Amino acid sequence: MAEDFCVFGKDQIIIKPPKKSLVATRMVLLLFATVFGIYIFSMCLKQIGTPISSDYVDHNYSQVPLVRWPCHTSFIPPGEDSYVHFPKPLTYSRNECSCHPVRFFAILSTQRSGSGWFETLLNSHINVSSNGEIFSAKERRSNATAIIETLDKVYNLDWYSSASKNECSAAVGFKWMLNQGLVEHHKEIVEYFNRRGVSAIFLFRKNHLRRLVSVLANSFDRSAKLLNGTHKSHVHSPTEAEVLATYKPKVNTTVLLQDLKDLEERTTNALDYFKSTRHIILYYEDLVSNRTKLMDILDFLRLPQRKLESRQVKIHTKPLSAQVDNWDDVYKTLNGTHYEIFLGSDYHI
Ligand SMILES: *[C@@H]1O[C@H](CO)[C@@H](O)[C@H](O)[C@H]1NC(C)=O
Ligand SMILES: *[C@@H]1O[C@H](CO)[C@@H](O)[C@H](O)[C@H]1NC(C)=O
Ligand SMILES: *[C@@H]1O[C@H](CO)[C@@H](O)[C@H](O)[C@H]1NC(C)=O
Ligand SMILES: *[C@@H]1O[C@H](CO)[C@@H](O)[C@H](O)[C@H]1NC(C)=O
Ligand SMILES: *[C@@H]1O[C@H](CO)[C@@H](O)[C@H](O)[C@H]1NC(C)=O
Ligand SMILES: *[C@@H]1O[C@H](CO)[C@@H](O)[C@H](O)[C@H]1NC(C)=O
Ligand SMILES: *[C@@H]1O[C@H](CO)[C@@H](O)[C@H](O)[C@H]1NC(C)=O
Repeated sequence: MAEDFCVFGKDQIIIKPPKKSLVATRMVLLLFATVFGIYIFSMCLKQIGTPISSDYVDHNYSQVPLVRWPCHTSFIPPGEDSYVHFPKPLTYSRNECSCHPVRFFAILSTQRSGSGWFETLLNSHINVSSNGEIFSAKERRSNATAIIETLDKVYNLDWYSSASKNECSAAVGFKWMLNQGLVEHHKEIVEYFNRRGVSAIFLFRKNHLRRLVSVLANSFDRSAKLLNGTHKSHVHSPTEAEVLATYKPKVNTTVLLQDLKDLEERTTNALDYFKSTRHIILYYEDLVSNRTKLMDILDFLRLPQRKLESRQVKIHTKPLSAQVDNWDDVYKTLNGTHYEIFLGSDYHI
């Protein structure tokens, strides 16, 4: 529309032929043309300068009136406007931060891959709100509609959790396990991520065998409750970690190869489904051995760099051979296969 208007203005100026007119008339005309030209030019500038759709009307946030945000958007890097948002929460006002851009993210991971630890690190940043495993509640993922409604609430900064930083959040998200409706409803979710500019942070473990051992130990503790009768998936002291690590699970070697194959396939498929979204792939082992990698995440979310901290303590620090009850069987099963790399210690604490 802006362009049409400009062309129309140009025509106006050219159409009038100054033929046979007096000098005065010419002067008046010239003056008129100049003034009109400047006016049109300023109109065009105004049109071009309108902030990019900074207000998003959510799926069922349609009750929220559409208001043009008077925020200066000049600091948004080119090509990134679809990843920058100015949410308007229904439950409170963003006050002095209402013109600070917010980025949407989701940590896509699998159980026992260090995502709890990773999330506490992210949440130690003053401008990050990562709201936990919100889709562990079944009713929120019972169908695509329920999922989208939950996502809308989180990304409109209306989700309340202990991690919410509210008005000055510059990145908002949560963690989502592949088996929590994410793979099942991947079509709708990928569409949503692309439409609303949600960035995906994949966090996987390279060593699926270690993950399997951690899953076994954690599910044993769910019933055994080694720590004074309470089940803990994550601990905050070396003593607690030691208690939990005393349990050595027995791995079912009959199904081990198939289990490892399934785990590998599930992560490969997830990466394939979400390849069209803006994403980054992280491995727990890399984060543990190189903390500088965390700064890559802050860059990815365009957040100011800060030191990130977590109080969580790693439970299994010993070599795998000391963590598994039937290590010899496990070794024999995997020796000479594609998975024998998991037998070695691939990182140190
Ligand atoms: C959202 O709410 C409005 C009115 O409250 C309703 O008309 C509309 O159908 C709802 N949209 C969806 C997708 O549920
Ligand atoms: C981060 O949060 C602080 C304190 O709430 C605020 O002053 C600052 O402007 C925020 N930074 C960004 C990039 O939003
Ligand atoms: C989706 O799930 C929600 C919550 O479980 C339920 O209330 C709703 O009726 C379901 N909608 C459809 C279309 O199945
Ligand atoms: C278990 O409880 C006892 C006494 O209440 C306490 O001294 C001890 O530290 C607890 N141990 C753990 C691992 O929480
Ligand atoms: C291993 O798993 C298979 C299949 O689930 C099961 O039939 C078998 O009894 C298990 N073996 C042991 C030792 O638990
Ligand atoms: C650690 O990670 C940073 C950021 O990704 C990278 O530049 C650096 O080379 C890594 N260091 C090592 C020793 O791998
Ligand atoms: C592993 O396999 C190699 C040959 O593939 C064999 O020489 C070695 O003894 C095996 N190791 C164990 C501990 O079984």
